[in-house]
Amino acid sequence: MPETAPKGLTRLAFGGDYNPEQWPESVWQEDVRLMREAGVTLVSVGIFSWALLEPEPGVYDFGWLDRLLDLLHDNGVRVDLGTPTVVPPAWFYRAHPDALPVTADGVRYAFGSRGAICHSNADYRAAAARITTELAERYASHPALAMWHVHNEYGVPVSACYCDSCAAHFRRWLRTTYGTVEAVNEAWGTAFWGQRYADLEQITPPRTAPTVGNPGQALDYKRFADATMRENFVMERDILHRLSPGVPVTTNFMTALSQCDSVDYWAWGREVDLVTNDHYLITDGRRTHVNLAMAADLTRSVAGGAPWLLLEHSTSGVNWQPRNPAKTPGQMARNSLAHVARGSEGALFFQWRQSRRGAEKFHSAMVPHGGTDTRVWREVVELGASLDALSEIRGTRTRADVAVLWDWHSWWAQNLQWRPSEDHDARERADAFYAALYDHHLTVDFAHPEADLSAYPLVVVPALYLMTEAAGRNVERYVENGGTLVVSYFSGIVDEHDAVHEGAHPGALRNVLGLTVEEFSPLLQGQSVRITGPDGSALTGDVWTEFVVPRDAEPVWTYADGPTAGRPAVTRHRLGEGTAWYVSTRLDAQGLDVLLGCAVEDAGIAGRADLPRDVEVVRRTGESGTYLFAINHTASDVKVALEADGTELLTGERAAGRLALPAGAVRVVRLHG
Ligand code: GAL
Repeated sequence: MPETAPKGLTRLAFGGDYNPEQWPESVWQEDVRLMREAGVTLVSVGIFSWALLEPEPGVYDFGWLDRLLDLLHDNGVRVDLGTPTVVPPAWFYRAHPDALPVTADGVRYAFGSRGAICHSNADYRAAAARITTELAERYASHPALAMWHVHNEYGVPVSACYCDSCAAHFRRWLRTTYGTVEAVNEAWGTAFWGQRYADLEQITPPRTAPTVGNPGQALDYKRFADATMRENFVMERDILHRLSPGVPVTTNFMTALSQCDSVDYWAWGREVDLVTNDHYLITDGRRTHVNLAMAADLTRSVAGGAPWLLLEHSTSGVNWQPRNPAKTPGQMARNSLAHVARGSEGALFFQWRQSRRGAEKFHSAMVPHGGTDTRVWREVVELGASLDALSEIRGTRTRADVAVLWDWHSWWAQNLQWRPSEDHDARERADAFYAALYDHHLTVDFAHPEADLSAYPLVVVPALYLMTEAAGRNVERYVENGGTLVVSYFSGIVDEHDAVHEGAHPGALRNVLGLTVEEFSPLLQGQSVRITGPDGSALTGDVWTEFVVPRDAEPVWTYADGPTAGRPAVTRHRLGEGTAWYVSTRLDAQGLDVLLGCAVEDAGIAGRADLPRDVEVVRRTGESGTYLFAINHTASDVKVALEADGTELLTGERAAGRLALPAGAVRVVRLHG
């Protein structure tokens, strides 16, 4: 069994990407002095260093990296060592221009940025294997080495290549996946529009075509591109496992749905020794702490509930959005500790020292341009101390109340063209349901639709267009055995090939929901409908309506107007020991709040109404105890009722009864008993 925790790290991880090759070595001395001052325990090194480590083909210069690792070791800083395979050197591309990826439009990207890789390219694979082998042989037994960091953020900025090598590789993938061309024709429905293939050799990637292409082909290409990146990760990982046993191997994910849409993290979670994640606030005016919580919950879920590590976030503003506000005082600590509350074993940043040159010089860092007499640096030092005070939580696990079903394959399929409405956005529904659960102060695990759900009193399905028959049976069993299920519209419609399930919609869910949907009737832009409930309550929907035909389900809210007036909008179905709710329109935040309120009651989950909005309370529990994290995202002081007395770890004070939680503050209480 490979190791899953950073080797030799005895505290929570704190540090960041350290790219010291940007400065003369004299600066390194100051770096390590400041690292000690801030309590840095782990840094990521060498992620983009291939051109320096192998300046000419087969000629290596490890001298600087030797000195750097020794220096870090002498100063008690552990190292997350990168394999630099995300940016091959310029000489490599001159020799192998075919390794640059090609867009669906046939444009070949140029060297001079980063991440320009065709993952099918044999020369790239061979070169990546060679540099990985060299690094592993040289540093496997270096005392500073804590873990390996393969590549960087697979899937961004290039998620797929459409070149001829990829075409050949895709055909091999199809042969392995389907066996015969007949099976591919059947799965993709090529009888329609005359797309039938007589031979696998006739198949190409879904390159730009006059109008919409074959959806089965497009969906399989997403799967193929993802699997191809994973093959390359596994190739590097296996070299590292062989040459550097006992050191965990990771690659940094970007689970936030707004940040990477091309990687099936359920599959990747099974391949890494330790799940690590990068998260950046998308500052578009929404409640960024909710998006952060969602990404952290999703990361923990792809780690199977095990501890994971936040490998990158920012001390303050980033520089790649249209507008990049600085973080407000205290926001960095709230962000970092919110990740920790949700299972991260520490908090690392991009990057240690802010660049003076290059593409990211306006991106914040732990040591800003202004040096140490700055708010950011003072907050960095404070955070280091806070994480140190939390050392004992290592290895504990976050407790969740609810599962939300999520599947990247379904998302990919949903996002293909020519759907009933382009206004329906699966990610938007996932975000909206997550926010509603957050506002009910429920902690969420995400689950694959075929995963065992029996531990959860409530399971929510915000938008799961693609569901296999097995997934349908899974949720049906879950409800029969006493679970409470909430399903939002346009779920359970197609199978794994994007083929509509036989019979009435929603094929994979009609039994469990006790209804059929005769027709979808999406609304026009700006149009909304009113739905009325038994107690006279009125809610609003937009984007989508349906002609729902209840079979065994009871209508609870009914469309009061719009194209489906008089028809059920929200239904409830008792099945076996459990209950399944269905909502056939896009509810706004208030509607979701009401609907989830009903479901929470059915599920027998105790209400948390005493907690104010935007006060986050999450528990981690394990052998060392139970820890209550309370994070106040509001500008008011509040009090949080404690279920037991305890000790607050950041202040060292005794906590009993109602915990005082000042505006913007974080408190972590070890609960006694
Ligand atoms: C990440 C990336 C880092 C840095 C950072 C800036 O996606 O891994 O290298 O570019 O973004 O926010």
